Amino acid sequence: MQDTIQKITTESKAAIHSAKNMAELEVIENKYLGRKQGELTALMQKMKDLSVEERKQFGPALNELKKLIENEIEIKKQEFENGSWNELAEKERIDITQPALPKKQFGHLHPNTLVQRDLEDLFTSMGFLVLDGPELESDYYNFSALNIPETHPARDMQDTFYIKNHADWVMRTHTSPMQVRAMQKYGAPLRAIVPGKCYRNEATDVRHEHTFYQMEGVVVDKGISFGHLKGVLEVVAKHLYGENTAVRLRPKFYPFVEPGVNGEVTCFTCAGKGCRLCKNTGWLEIFGAGMIHPNVLKEGGIDSKVYSGFAFGFGLTRLVMLKYGIDDIRLLESGNLKFLEQF
Ligand code: PHE
Repeated sequence: MQDTIQKITTESKAAIHSAKNMAELEVIENKYLGRKQGELTALMQKMKDLSVEERKQFGPALNELKKLIENEIEIKKQEFENGSWNELAEKERIDITQPALPKKQFGHLHPNTLVQRDLEDLFTSMGFLVLDGPELESDYYNFSALNIPETHPARDMQDTFYIKNHADWVMRTHTSPMQVRAMQKYGAPLRAIVPGKCYRNEATDVRHEHTFYQMEGVVVDKGISFGHLKGVLEVVAKHLYGENTAVRLRPKFYPFVEPGVNGEVTCFTCAGKGCRLCKNTGWLEIFGAGMIHPNVLKEGGIDSKVYSGFAFGFGLTRLVMLKYGIDDIRLLESGNLKFLEQF
């Protein structure tokens, strides 16, 4: 028995190894494992005539052999199906000396978006909502609701694009219309910022563009004072330009705030000493702000005897230009890749 097992082991291995195709392999399979005449099958059938002792001795060996033959046949089959290991290796060979494919061009964020997101993070950390508003705005929200009546000269300073056959529609000239929209929608107390695109009818040059970005802020609550406004603006200024940055507020007229101010921060290139960037003043003008005018609170449906609030508007585009030292505003909307790829 032992000898026969040994013999079948060697012979079957050799036979399987030298099989040249699937048909030959099937013949071999049949020769050993075939149900009727398979040599191994016959051997297994003989087991029942053996003594218990012998069965214990040869049983496991026979099973082992069966597994071995099945396994070898399977490997050979795979080889016929997929080609030899050598062929397989050749197929999957990687030529590591081949030059790499050119790097794929991925898009990236516009400098505007980078600065906008940075400020959104700062303001959300102080509990502000981030709101979006329509760029095509009604005359009412852009002007009238902000205490700028039709005949007011303030409208001249913010000339914009009008829509044919829609006399009361304008491309918004600032993000301030969202002050009233936000108050109407959310009521008081309110804390929100509104980043977004604005438009003006400008003769374009390095400092003027018909399309630019602002970020509006509006806070309404009981007991809100000018001190709160200054506090928030200082947080923003220090966040943008460092701990040693100071804020300077000087009176400026905006019809929708009272008092209104023009906001400047210490020039970050000369630390206030005076340089080209700040036109030797030591200060950079970056926002307008003030306490929300009672007429505007009223338009927002808020009782100015109970609540007060402040609003500010940052020139987001201006912040971007200052941050990256961009000296021509027109580059920002140009879609010029030579410019954009630097960010
Ligand atoms: N909307 C004003 C502008 O575009 C800025 C501003 C916002 C001023 C809020 C005061 C309060 O110039």
